[in-house]
Amino acid sequence: MTQIAPLLAAQRSGYALERPFYTDRAIFDADLTHIWYQEWIFAAPEAEFAKPGAYVTLQLGAYPVVIVKGADGAIRAFHNVCRHRGQRLCAKPSGTSVKLVCPYHQWTYETDGRLLWARDMGPEFDASKHGLKQLHCDTAAGMVFVCLAEVAPDFTPVKAEANRYTAPHGIKDLKVAFQSKIVENGNWKLVLENNRECYHCAGSHPSLCRTFDDNPDLVGADDSLSSPAGAAHVNRCEAAGLPSRYVIDADDQWRLVRIPFVGDAVSYTMDGKAAAPKLPGMPFANAGSLLFFHYPNTWNHFLSDHVLNFRVLPISPTETEVVTTWLVHKDAVEGRDYDLTRLTEVWENTNDEDRRVVEENQFGINSPAYEPGPYSARQESGVIQFIDWYLATMRKATAPLTLAAE
Ligand code: FES
Ligand SMILES: [Fe+2]
Repeated sequence: MTQIAPLLAAQRSGYALERPFYTDRAIFDADLTHIWYQEWIFAAPEAEFAKPGAYVTLQLGAYPVVIVKGADGAIRAFHNVCRHRGQRLCAKPSGTSVKLVCPYHQWTYETDGRLLWARDMGPEFDASKHGLKQLHCDTAAGMVFVCLAEVAPDFTPVKAEANRYTAPHGIKDLKVAFQSKIVENGNWKLVLENNRECYHCAGSHPSLCRTFDDNPDLVGADDSLSSPAGAAHVNRCEAAGLPSRYVIDADDQWRLVRIPFVGDAVSYTMDGKAAAPKLPGMPFANAGSLLFFHYPNTWNHFLSDHVLNFRVLPISPTETEVVTTWLVHKDAVEGRDYDLTRLTEVWENTNDEDRRVVEENQFGINSPAYEPGPYSARQESGVIQFIDWYLATMRKATAPLTLAAE
């Protein structure tokens, strides 16, 4: 059996992780137990829950989960497991249903989780004891998060800051324009590491680099103010009422900052021009991109004309699902106000390019000849920051309990 604590203790700061962290089943299971089953996990954009009965399902490690909007308008998350004989209740990725009806024997649940009806269960049967099991559910920045832990970590600070920064984007008035789902044959940490640096951008992302500035002073762990362009952008946006200054969680789990695009670009398009109508709350189009990450599973871009949510979920030690959602103002009409290809092509290309680099990274790490190399402090400060968060979280969770002396 893999001993995780000695491996965690042996990691050198500023270096890539040892091979088992990217390949080993026991470490993958420990990641699930200590991170994925403890932290707030981004599940779906709030825009997917337009009406009561709208639901979204996801597989969070071993746990099938269903999130549903109740008749009272509240969004709740449940274990997607029937309380009769355990059938998965909702099999589709999303849908709308007035009640949640188990497909096996039709036990019927209210959208708030109560069991309403179960045929021929006899007079002793107590329906009130067989409601769906609930898990924590909350929203921030128009994004629904869930948490499997018995006691969820405090969500208040990230919720307050993320809501404040994203309010001008009208996060309650967005609709899903497009969603893509890809599976990358790489460990989830490679997917996150790749996202946290732009050292690879010039060599991999010709479409993205037309508008996205790969200056490490803007996109790393730097506060973006050490770049004159970054400082000017933050000051201009703040003066116009857009919260933009770099802010990071005390435990380094999440960060918000607004960065400028290249030149006079206003959106992630091939020509840099807008892809959709300007969001009404934004003071001007040239607002760059508000970046929001929350570990372990999401990074996001809030633009003046659309919003991009990214959701990462681990499937196996070497497989990771990435779902991307493009959101526009709810009144924008496809074909009239925006063109789907134009809206999505830059990040469709970028996602595919990132998938390839992550998969090739995994190939190399699978080799017994792999040896962790040093990160570039200048170019990969964001990766160092992510790995430091990962190691700190895992070390804390796996530290032997110190028992008080009798
Ligand atoms: S398992 Fe759901 S009704 Fe039987
Ligand atoms: Fe990339």
